[in-house]
Amino acid sequence: MADYTKEITKRRTFAIISHPDAGKTTLTEKFLLYGGAINLAGSVKGKATSRHAVSDWMEIEKERGISVTSSVLQFNYDGYCINILDTPGHQDFSEDTYRTLMAADSAVMVIDASKGVEAQTRKLFKVCAMRHIPIFTFINKLDRDANDTFDLLDDIEKELGIPTCPINWPIGSGKKFRGVYDRDTRKVLTFSDTMKGTKEGIGEEISVDEPRLDEVLDAEQKEQLLEEIELLDGASAEFDQDLVNEGKLSPVFFGSALTNFGVETFLEHFLKMTSSPLPRTADIGVIDPVKEEFSAFVFKIQANMNKNHRDRIAFMRICSGKFDASREVFHVQGNKKMRLSQPQQMMASDRHVVEEAYAGDIIGVFDPGIFAIGDTVCTPGKKYAYEGIPTFAPEHFARVRLMDSMKRKQFVKGVNQIAQEGAIQIFQEFMGGMEEIIVGVVGVLQFDVLKYRLENEYNVEIRLESLPYEHIRWIANKESVDIEKLTGTSDMKKVKDMRGNPLLLFVNAWSVGMTLDRNEGLELAEFSRN
Ligand code: G4P
Repeated sequence: MADYTKEITKRRTFAIISHPDAGKTTLTEKFLLYGGAINLAGSVKGKATSRHAVSDWMEIEKERGISVTSSVLQFNYDGYCINILDTPGHQDFSEDTYRTLMAADSAVMVIDASKGVEAQTRKLFKVCAMRHIPIFTFINKLDRDANDTFDLLDDIEKELGIPTCPINWPIGSGKKFRGVYDRDTRKVLTFSDTMKGTKEGIGEEISVDEPRLDEVLDAEQKEQLLEEIELLDGASAEFDQDLVNEGKLSPVFFGSALTNFGVETFLEHFLKMTSSPLPRTADIGVIDPVKEEFSAFVFKIQANMNKNHRDRIAFMRICSGKFDASREVFHVQGNKKMRLSQPQQMMASDRHVVEEAYAGDIIGVFDPGIFAIGDTVCTPGKKYAYEGIPTFAPEHFARVRLMDSMKRKQFVKGVNQIAQEGAIQIFQEFMGGMEEIIVGVVGVLQFDVLKYRLENEYNVEIRLESLPYEHIRWIANKESVDIEKLTGTSDMKKVKDMRGNPLLLFVNAWSVGMTLDRNEGLELAEFSRN
C-alpha cells in the first residue's frame, strides 16, 4: 500500500460552533483570508437582508463568489490542509447540525464577549463533549464593550463544565480595547483599527517589560494587566495538551473577527494544538487513518427538495486511507461492491468532481437511495462497520393529522421514508399503533420540510398541531424497567420510536428530575445509540 502519511497528517478537520450572531461566519471568512482563498477587499460584508433564511455559507458564496459550500470548506494554510465543517444555525438548525459534529475531529467554539455562553452553544457543546473531542474557545467582539474576562471564563466553566486555559488575555474592550497579551511569550499584540477588516492592521508585538508599552496602555490599564497576569498565573489551569486532546480543557483566545484581530494568532496556535485525523472505532476495533486502506462513513444525507430531481447526496467523512474515484468500494450495510457515483468535493464556486481525497476529507456522493446515516464504505475485502451515529433528542413536537383518511397508505410510506432519511423522528403512543403519529424535530424548519415533501412527493395533505413537549428521554435501562408502571408528572407522555424503544416526553426540565426521583433505578438518556 502506498504511503499517504504526508497527505493525511497535514489535514485538520473541525467544526465551528456558536450561537447565531456570535461571529461564526465572520471568523470563517477571516480564516479563508489567511488561506488566500479570498482577498482583503472581498471580505467587506454588505447588509444582506435575507441572509438568515439560507445557510450562511451559501450567502458568502453568493456575496463574494468564493470557494465555499453549504457543507464543507477546504483551504490550505501554512502547510496544513484545513476542512471546516458547517454547522447550520438560525432556521437551518436541525439534527444535521448535530450529525455534522460526528465528522469533526475538533471544534472551535465562538462566544460573543458581551453575551457569554448562549443556548445554541450549549446544545452543540454537549454533542462535542459526548465525543470527547478537543474544544477551542474564541471569545469574539472585543472591539465592543465586553463582560469582565474572569466572568466570561467562569461562565464557560460553570455553564459547560469544562475548565479553561487562557492562551492570551484581552486588554480592555470596546473603545478601550488595546490588544491581547500572549501568556507564553509575555508579549502584547497591539490592536489597530482595521476599519472593519478592510485595511491591513499595523499591530505590533511589544514585550510586557518594554517601556514602549506605556505608549499603548495608560497607567491604569497597565496596572490592571499586570495584576490580572499575576492572578491568572496563580489561579488558572495550566495548559496541558493531553487534557485538551481528551476534551477536558479548553484553550481560550480573545479577539475580534470583524476587525481581523487575534484571528491569525488563534489559527496558528489552534493548528499546532489539534491533531491530524483521529482514529475511529469500528466493530472490529480502532481503525488507523494512515495504516488502513480507504474507509468512510455517511454522516448526512441531503434530499433534493425539487421533485423533478429526487436524487440525494450522501456526505461521507473519510476515516482512513485514500479515496480513489476510479476504484470500487464496498458498502458494508448493503453488502455490495460499488463505484461511488459522481464523488464531489464542494469547493470552488461550484461543486467539482474529485478523483482523490484523503482521510479527514469530506466527499458528497450521489445516492440513489441506498445509503442510510451511519453507513460504512470501505475497501473491498474488508467488512467492518463504524459505530453508528446517535439519534439526537428532538426539541419540537407536533401531532400529525392526515386530512384525507383514504391516503393512509401513502402517508405511512412517506412519513417512514422521510424519517429514514433522518429529517424527522416519528413516535407513537406507547400502547398505540400508526393511527396517531407524533413527529419530533431538532429545528422547526423541519416541520415545513415534512409538510412540503408529503404534499409534493406523496400527494398527501397533513395538518400539524404543535405539542408543548420540549424534552425527550430514552429509557436507558428499558430491560429492567416496567414502563407501564412508571409514574411521572401529569404532563409526562409515554411514547415509543419506530424501533419500539420506549421514550418519555416532558414539558419542562423539572418534570424530568421529578420523574427520576419518583422511579428509583430509572435511567434516562438524551441520545440513543440504537
Ligand atoms: P454568525 O455566523 O455566528 O451568525 O455571525 P456573523 O459572523 O454573521 O456575525 C454576526 C454579526 O456580528 C455581524 O453583524 C458581524 O459583522 C458582527 N461581528 C462579527 N464579529 C464581530 C466582531 O469581532 N466585532 C464586531 N463589532 N462585530 C462582529 P451584522 O450587523 O449582523 O451583519 P453585517 O451587517 O455586518 O453583515
